[in-house]
Amino acid sequence: MSRIRELPKVELHVHIEGTLEPDLVLELAADAGITLPYPDADALRGRYVFADLQSFLDIYYENLDVLRRRHDFARLAYEYAVRAHSGGVVHAEVFFDPQAHRSRGVPTADVVDGLVDGFARARTEFGFTADLIACFLRDRPAAEAAETLDELIAVDAPIIGVGLDSAEVGNPASPFADVFTRAADLGLRRVAHAGEEAGPESIRQAIDHLGVDRIDHGIRSVDDPDLLAELVATRMPLTVCPLSNVCLQAVGDLASHPLPDLLSAGAHVTLNSDDPAYFGGYLDDNFTAVAEQFGLDDDTLARLARNSVVASFLPASRQREII
Ligand code: HPA
Ligand code: ZN
Repeated sequence: MSRIRELPKVELHVHIEGTLEPDLVLELAADAGITLPYPDADALRGRYVFADLQSFLDIYYENLDVLRRRHDFARLAYEYAVRAHSGGVVHAEVFFDPQAHRSRGVPTADVVDGLVDGFARARTEFGFTADLIACFLRDRPAAEAAETLDELIAVDAPIIGVGLDSAEVGNPASPFADVFTRAADLGLRRVAHAGEEAGPESIRQAIDHLGVDRIDHGIRSVDDPDLLAELVATRMPLTVCPLSNVCLQAVGDLASHPLPDLLSAGAHVTLNSDDPAYFGGYLDDNFTAVAEQFGLDDDTLARLARNSVVASFLPASRQREII
């Protein structure tokens, strides 16, 4: 929809590894001489049927094998920027998973330098800007997250914040309190996935133990009216990802997504794509899907776009320019 593409938007919840399109998997594998267990991109795409978060993460981590060299990461970042920009995204605060690459023997410096190269090219060519947020894997020990932060500092990674992602159920946020405190002391912003598959108590932990500036997903806040009222009162941004929630069966279907309840409660909702190469759409596709499903009017769509700018970590001067 052109009215959606024309709204200037900031994307706050996108995993760069989740923008790895099947065609690019095939191309990078061919370049690196990797033999894949499927014949073509359609066969890979055919495997993208997910019962839950874990069944998605299994394929997401498997596909990372094709990302090996600095220029693979540059290509990934650039291709995301091209696609996001075509849908009206002017700036993105992009997650990456350093541990998922370090554990495969890919140096963190190559990951970071490659992403920086790709986004620098996008900025030069069409003015798109991006900042990086390093996510710790919550299904790995907190000590490994602490080592990862040390390494990011050692390679002088230009990150603006830290996040927490991967399997939520059974992996509470509280063990990561110390590493998040250290990140805060370094002047980094803090975000965490919470309330995607696990309930409101997961959101409560992210706030109380990690001191987060935003909640990634947060949809299960609708199950706890007191928590939701607090999120509204504190203007806590929620980075909601509707197509992701449908694909990972966090909701039964788009019609039963709690977005309308969050909006009517006055929550600071932003829309995002999460892992667009896997979930059937980029940010503009998420806007279009909810606009059609819930009959959102132009004012509501503009409010959602403006929320994304205000909830970003951009300086107020740049926020004003975008709005
Ligand atoms: N949820 C949690 N962790 C993730 C995701 C997600 O959708 N994508 C990549 N890591
Ligand atoms: Zn996510």
